[in-house]
Amino acid sequence: MLKIIAHRGASAYAPENTFAAFEKARSMGANCIEFDVMLSADGEPFIFHDTMLNRTTNGSGGLGRAHSDYVRTLDAGSWFSENFQSEPVPTLSDVLAWLLQFDMQANIEIKAYPGYVKETTIAVLSALNSSWPHDKPLPLVSSFNREALTLCRTLSPEMPIGMLLHKWEDDWYVTAENLAATTVHLCWKVVTAARVKAILEKKYLVYVYTINSCRQALYLDKLGVNAVFSDYPDLLADYC
Ligand code: G3P
Ligand code: MG
Repeated sequence: MLKIIAHRGASAYAPENTFAAFEKARSMGANCIEFDVMLSADGEPFIFHDTMLNRTTNGSGGLGRAHSDYVRTLDAGSWFSENFQSEPVPTLSDVLAWLLQFDMQANIEIKAYPGYVKETTIAVLSALNSSWPHDKPLPLVSSFNREALTLCRTLSPEMPIGMLLHKWEDDWYVTAENLAATTVHLCWKVVTAARVKAILEKKYLVYVYTINSCRQALYLDKLGVNAVFSDYPDLLADYC
């Protein structure tokens, strides 16, 4: 059965990349969440998607220019609904603790603030290194940024890596092989039956983002896609 990964948490029901969205995903029966990690100016890894703070918080400016003390004061919920007023921007360390507490799986997407690819990758790996138990399967680390993934592989031979393809690349296999990737994540726009087949034949898992319609999910399931990222963790239950 197609696995549903809660994209930025259950982000159709609660503000993306917040504990409200992660808790909602868990309450809906999801066992895996995807979230984005970006550093504040002083190097604290926060769970955050955009470069700028204004869309999903009451703050302004770039996250990478903001001190963590400021980021901690922000309201990341009110933009979505007044029911989520004062929902904080989570830190990676708090989310890792939450994942362990509830035995949840995760896809950590490295979203480096411009100019901080190396620092962000190292921060994610250090956080995992210091808090993730050795006997527990590691989260999947992904990124659109190839420099981040290459560094991740260099520093951590055992880390499961997901390679994101927003546009199709005919030489995807060379990159996947160099990275010793586990998964190839395709934007739905570049999915074809032949491409999915080619990736599966090379023994990589195929994940597709972002799928919010049941019809699309069932089609991808038929193609052999292993997982989809969805804002609706209940995609197959309630939308079919
Ligand atoms: O990893 C799948 C998806 O999260 C990638 O796009 O922009 O939602 O982070 P984005
Ligand atoms: Mg993401």
